Amino acid sequence: MVADLGCGPGFFTLALAECVRTERRAYAVDMDEKAIQALEKKADKRGYHSIEAHVSSAHNLNFIKDRSVDFILADGLLCSMAPQQHEAVVEEMKRILKPNGLIYLKVARGPRSYMKKAEWD
Ligand SMILES: C[S@@+](CC[C@H](N)C(=O)[O-])C[C@H]1O[C@@H](n2cnc3c(N)ncnc32)[C@H](O)[C@@H]1O
Repeated sequence: MVADLGCGPGFFTLALAECVRTERRAYAVDMDEKAIQALEKKADKRGYHSIEAHVSSAHNLNFIKDRSVDFILADGLLCSMAPQQHEAVVEEMKRILKPNGLIYLKVARGPRSYMKKAEWD
């Protein structure tokens, strides 16, 4: 199972779906409904049925079970939200990640990009 948090229109989700194919689910989460609609359209066109897309904030992933995800991608997510919201999102990532799972976190330069050491840890 993989999860693309703050997936936007799904540039990376489609690549992830290609990796996991049909055996595993690829969750795609974004609070922007239009981005999710664009992703669903592309996924449909390309036949990626493993993608499960949700319009939701990344600090509420109650549709994903505890310790069920092998890989989380969060490219440009944390720097798109207020720093005081980071902790809740990081907690959700920790909740859904399997014990040996991996997270790829990337933040762009900008006024919201500062992350505490504990968040990186
Ligand atoms: C810079 S874009 C990155 C999109 C995509 N990950 C990529 O790299 O192409 C950031 C995305 O995060 C989404 N976003 C911002 N705050 C969010 C939140 N609290 N929960 C989920 N998505 C959020 C935005 O709607 C936007 O699509």
